[in-house]
Amino acid sequence: MINIIGLGPGNNDYITKVGEKLILNSDVVIGGKRNLDSIENFKGEKIVLASNLKEIVRYINENKDKQISVIASGDPFIYGIGKYLSKNIDTKELNVVSGISSLQYIFSKIYVDMNDLYITSSHGKTPDFDYVLSHKKVCMVTDKVIGPKEICKEILNRDLKRTVIVGENLSYDNEKITIGTPKEILEADNFQMCVVVILEEY
Ligand SMILES: C[S@@+](CC[C@H](N)C(=O)[O-])C[C@H]1O[C@@H](n2cnc3c(N)ncnc32)[C@H](O)[C@@H]1O
Repeated sequence: MINIIGLGPGNNDYITKVGEKLILNSDVVIGGKRNLDSIENFKGEKIVLASNLKEIVRYINENKDKQISVIASGDPFIYGIGKYLSKNIDTKELNVVSGISSLQYIFSKIYVDMNDLYITSSHGKTPDFDYVLSHKKVCMVTDKVIGPKEICKEILNRDLKRTVIVGENLSYDNEKITIGTPKEILEADNFQMCVVVILEEY
């Protein structure tokens, strides 16, 4: 079995017990550098996952005798590695353990339900903001190119009334949650790794 394990938002206290056990019993753990650094107790082989996705799939298919776990931040099926691996590895050989997503985490912190939430991402793409902002409740994972300020410019350009919540470094010691109008977010300091919630009503 190949495990795909969601680590949760970042702080090790949020990983599931089943995920932790599978990692510790693995021969090889594959993941992004931030995620590999976080599994200090694992003493086996670590392989860094970056843009080498094809090589990783080949490695997994050629090493089926090994216990391999691929680790991902949050939930692997929310803008994570789950989609690619489940399309490129026989799913009969996959065991997916979901983790708490950064999206789930921020909603619990702001006491807002996730019902009817529109989930999207700005990673490596320009979202269709007319469509995104037609929803009453949105949560976006972001990258360095399109982050909170660029999103707020799109809201202001359309003259929309929204509350914007930016969740930075969630679950880590330097976690910061900023709530404001698009104008306030635009005027705030620059943001680090974050998710952005856009609400019509708050
Ligand atoms: C490739 S996506 C992975 C999302 C992940 N699968 C999840 O469920 O949280 C990476 C993006 O998720 C968001 N993210 C992940 N962990 C975060 C954290 N601890 N705090 C804030 N945002 C986070 C950021 O927008 C980051 O750029």
